[in-house]
Amino acid sequence: MALTNIGELVTWDDERPILHDASIVIVDGEVAWTGEGPPPAADQHFDLGGAAVVPGFVDSHSHVVFDGDRSGEFEARMSGVPYGAGGIRSTVEATRAASVEDLRRTARHLVGEARRQGTTTIEIKSGYGLDVATEGRLVEVAAELTDEVTFLGAHVVPADARTVDDYVALVTGEMLDACAPHSRWIDVFVEEGAFGEEAALEVLSAGMGRGLLPRVHANQLGPGPGARVAAAVGAAAADHCTFLSDEDVRDLVDAGVVIGLLPGVEFSTRQPFPDARRLLDAGATVALATDCNPGSSFTTSMPFCIAVAVRDMHLTPLEALWSATLGGAASLRRTDVGHLRVGAHADLVVLDAPSHLHLAYRPGVPLVSRVLTAEGHDE
Ligand code: NIG
Ligand code: FE
Repeated sequence: MALTNIGELVTWDDERPILHDASIVIVDGEVAWTGEGPPPAADQHFDLGGAAVVPGFVDSHSHVVFDGDRSGEFEARMSGVPYGAGGIRSTVEATRAASVEDLRRTARHLVGEARRQGTTTIEIKSGYGLDVATEGRLVEVAAELTDEVTFLGAHVVPADARTVDDYVALVTGEMLDACAPHSRWIDVFVEEGAFGEEAALEVLSAGMGRGLLPRVHANQLGPGPGARVAAAVGAAAADHCTFLSDEDVRDLVDAGVVIGLLPGVEFSTRQPFPDARRLLDAGATVALATDCNPGSSFTTSMPFCIAVAVRDMHLTPLEALWSATLGGAASLRRTDVGHLRVGAHADLVVLDAPSHLHLAYRPGVPLVSRVLTAEGHDE
């Protein structure tokens, strides 16, 4: 199949990352050819009439398996009540009470919503069960929807745990046993009110001992040891990073940890936006993700995150697109997605716009007109 008459084609090819008046040929779900002008022979041709095509978005951070509503918390926040991790416990209560069918329905709905906005790869975390049975259910539902499943039993210490040490023992023992077979990643929320440095290292090492790869929720609500922990274990990603010291930035860059910025969080909590420019200047690899969850960022929209990152984190539109595609792929240690070089998964987004610039220039406008994936879905 060939898509022709593409006004702007972003491939992220090393030599020519952006082509104009281009075509792309897809064979068996893979990119077989890209170039300017008409394509070599293909069985079917679709003329895109000058529309832009970009790689499918890679959302490297989401919590879409949960139940319950926290819109009231958002409303209160917009009237000045500060965000706190305590709200997580109300989602835990609702999630524990939900049936697996309800959890599946919500998660499928949110993943469908993300897909219609151009997300073709999504990471999904557990973390709203915090007991063995419920965390097990959450990773199983997540695994029905993605290969990028993260076990986040160490989200907060649940109200029914006797002590932090007891809960860490549960997470690193029975809960890990139940969740590791369905997961690729292990995550921990390192924050005051969640887990400290020592507990975080214990959780991450236990997961790594079971073959899971580490990622970290770091420095979201204030300065702290999260970034240092991520660097120490060689995490693939440190996400949030709203409050990083210069030393934290150096540690993350030196350890090759991708810094995940989550613009929906600062937008929805009224926290200060981290400055992506500072991170890029220090040599960091930056990923953009939604962090879709009912508390701090209830959006599935990568175009929204791109627009906010450009406006408030000081990325250029092209840098934001890079971070939402190749940056997300780097965060998930994937080389087969996030770009449209020959051999890549043919995961792509057709925009109802002549260039990627419009993703930030026209915020809130549904610019994703078609989404193709290697499996051929178009939603
Ligand atoms: O990534 N930081 C911790 N966890 C989520 C928020 C969870 C919630 O408020 O429900 C996050 O922002
Ligand atoms: Fe998160």
